[in-house]
Amino acid sequence: MTNTWWSGAVVYQVYPRSFFDSNSDGIGDLAGVQAKLPYLKSLGVDAIWLSPFYPSPMCDSGYDISNPRDVDPSLGTLNDFDSLIAHAHETSIRVIVDVVPNHVSREHKWFHEALASPPNNKERKRFHFRDGTSDGPPNNWISVFGGPAWTQVTEPDGTPGQWYLHLFDSGQPDVNWTNQEVIDDFDATLRFWLDRGVDGFRVDVALALAKDMSYANREQPQKLVDAIRLDLYDPENPEASREVREFLIDSPIFDRDEVHDYLRHWREILGSYQGDRFAVAEAWAYPTERAMEYARSLGQVFNFDFMVVPFNAETLHVTAKRIITNAIEFHASPTWVLSNHDNARVATRYGGGAEGLAKARAMALVCATLPGSMYIYQGDELGLGDGFVPPESRIDPIWQRSGQTNPGRDGCRVPIPWQSQEANFGFSTADKLWIPQDASWTPIAADLQESDPHSTLNLYRQMLTLRHDHPAWNDSMAATDLTLDGSLWFIERAHHVICVLNSGSETVAIDVEGRVLIASNPEAQEWEDLASQTHMVSLPANSAVIIEKNSQPNPQVEI
Ligand code: GLC
Ligand code: CA
Repeated sequence: MTNTWWSGAVVYQVYPRSFFDSNSDGIGDLAGVQAKLPYLKSLGVDAIWLSPFYPSPMCDSGYDISNPRDVDPSLGTLNDFDSLIAHAHETSIRVIVDVVPNHVSREHKWFHEALASPPNNKERKRFHFRDGTSDGPPNNWISVFGGPAWTQVTEPDGTPGQWYLHLFDSGQPDVNWTNQEVIDDFDATLRFWLDRGVDGFRVDVALALAKDMSYANREQPQKLVDAIRLDLYDPENPEASREVREFLIDSPIFDRDEVHDYLRHWREILGSYQGDRFAVAEAWAYPTERAMEYARSLGQVFNFDFMVVPFNAETLHVTAKRIITNAIEFHASPTWVLSNHDNARVATRYGGGAEGLAKARAMALVCATLPGSMYIYQGDELGLGDGFVPPESRIDPIWQRSGQTNPGRDGCRVPIPWQSQEANFGFSTADKLWIPQDASWTPIAADLQESDPHSTLNLYRQMLTLRHDHPAWNDSMAATDLTLDGSLWFIERAHHVICVLNSGSETVAIDVEGRVLIASNPEAQEWEDLASQTHMVSLPANSAVIIEKNSQPNPQVEI
């Protein structure tokens, strides 16, 4: 594996609408991201990933794009984008942007053209249009967000007409990747942003582009989409999880081999630009080897396992070992993800409250120590949990499409609390925010964390400074030894630093030949045991420390 900047990068995911509002309309924007660059610099991230900021009618919070080569007026202008990227680069922060190849918005000009054309015209062949059957839709496939994966259109002459395929919301028609025009247009999008200086892309649902275009009915259609649902993956019950994931084998919609042709082609485009541009694929493939194929074709893939497995040393150890072994085999770099805009925040997933936060802080040290790259979702560095969003304020289409049974993803998209004493916690001076904030957040607002040496914000800063400056991290894939001892998990890098996680419920004393560089729990203590002449560290339950050993770093050996 070559040591590119991105194979060991710390990438911070900005969800622009919820980051910082610069013009008082209640919606975060690109100028708001620019205004917070000093904060991101002081945090110590290498790159930011911007979730979609393109023109969108917002059926799926911007993942329904009506023009992929422009900026939505509510988020700013192309000039704002150019300014953001120039300022980010000035402060040595790289910028990657989200691209959405699987679908466009129903307001995209192509879809308008398709609706205005008769069936079978070339304008319809950019999408998956089919005639219905006597039962209604062309087949029994289901949308990931709930309900049928097909919606019927009205023909130009006013009669009820054909149906179009949408794996997500009906506002997100899937495009047809066997159509050269679709391929060429996506190339144009990549080049448009590469020419503007982006350092890379996060590729949305990269595993869904190719479809079985015989569109045959499937026996258990719900299982086809459940196969990529994170909440149905039960790491305590691998057999049941395997059954869920097995619907990815020979799936008509996900992880089909043809997908990789498209990815390899994009990688060539990236390679034709100077400066190590890269892309990371969102691909909920299974097993890990299957996911790693996306890294082989494209460069990098998200390893989402840490968003799923419980806080348990043994499970984490087995999971990380598998990911690292696979990554080495595929000449890829692992990626560690604790939260994103689609899932409950890590502190909430670990049970919330003080214990959830303690575990989330410990896992931050674990991810920062592991080889490869670390993705941080905005607000995790403040230890935020999901905000409560009342039903009447819910925006996510999952809420409506599930018949109001699944609250959806708004809780992890609540705007960031910057200032404890200001209206809207300093996120915006508007009367109303696009998603309301959580009134209980006062004590964890960023300004209060600035001055508290033990705050999660300062823990992240110290941790990222350490990762940046310490020689053990010089080589992002340097030797890694993983060892399990009951509820203790040891991650040793370059034979020189060790992260120790205690997932048990008791404080444990460990003897180490070295000193603690950073502790997730300030109650972790070091002392000399005079009788045995050893240096001891007491590690509280649900916490982690990073220890520097007395030996010199030796990054030469691969795991
Ligand atoms: C990805 C995005 C998610 C979006 C979906 C459809 O999974 O992360 O937010 O809803 O794709 O574009
Ligand atoms: Ca705004």
